[in-house]
Amino acid sequence: MLKKETGTLYGVSVGTGDPELITVKGQRLLQETSVIAFPLGVKGKPGLAETIIDPWIRPQQKKLPLHFPYLQDEQQLQQAWKAAAATVWDYLDQGLDVAFACEGDVSFYSTFTYLAQTLRKNYPSVTIQTIPGVSSPMSAASVLGIPLTLGSQNLAIIPALYHRDELDQVLSWADVIVLLKVSSVYSQVWEKLEQLNLLDHAFIVERANQPEEKIYRNLSDHPHLNLSYFSVMIIRQK
Ligand SMILES: C[S@@+](CC[C@H](N)C(=O)[O-])C[C@H]1O[C@@H](n2cnc3c(N)ncnc32)[C@H](O)[C@@H]1O
Repeated sequence: MLKKETGTLYGVSVGTGDPELITVKGQRLLQETSVIAFPLGVKGKPGLAETIIDPWIRPQQKKLPLHFPYLQDEQQLQQAWKAAAATVWDYLDQGLDVAFACEGDVSFYSTFTYLAQTLRKNYPSVTIQTIPGVSSPMSAASVLGIPLTLGSQNLAIIPALYHRDELDQVLSWADVIVLLKVSSVYSQVWEKLEQLNLLDHAFIVERANQPEEKIYRNLSDHPHLNLSYFSVMIIRQK
């Protein structure tokens, strides 16, 4: 008897908020694939990826929320990725394709990578394809109406600041700096920018391309901000 072929897992980048920022290919896969996976939201609310894809999904498609806890504990994280990988593999092994909706771009600091790594380790015959998309630094520049970089400018992207010195170090060589996850360190960053007279060169975009989108330009007026996790800062030194 011929063994049934396993399905393909598609990592679909769904952009930063506006459902129209999904690529044509990503949208087609989201509409054609029978199982649609996405990170489970927190506190019973739908997650961002789930909200973004809502207009493109039909009721007949199976929705598969996967739990990825916001934790530092490596062991607990590994367990969550293992459980998510097993859930996805159940469908792939039945020959069904699964599309995983990933906020922003799938290759850019994304949970999808951990899911894919775990599947490859535990189920080596798995087939995975990724569909690129719009990520937050590009969305923020577009919302601000500025080029992110020009000519020979160097760009630094900092996924999260853990030490004050990291910003000094980056400021010594990069012309343009993008800080992700800036909400938790905003006050410290603000103080550093004030010392360096850079407050007028920094911008924040909160929830880019979403109904709640906000822009902060004159940061001298904003020493304290209660920002959403989905906030990005762009510093342009020149
Ligand atoms: C784990 S990273 C994920 C990045 C995502 N894969 C991407 O392509 O942009 C999460 C960080 O991305 C940034 N981010 C993601 N979406 C955003 C949005 N719509 N507006 C502003 N910042 C966003 C925030 O800095 C957030 O803390």
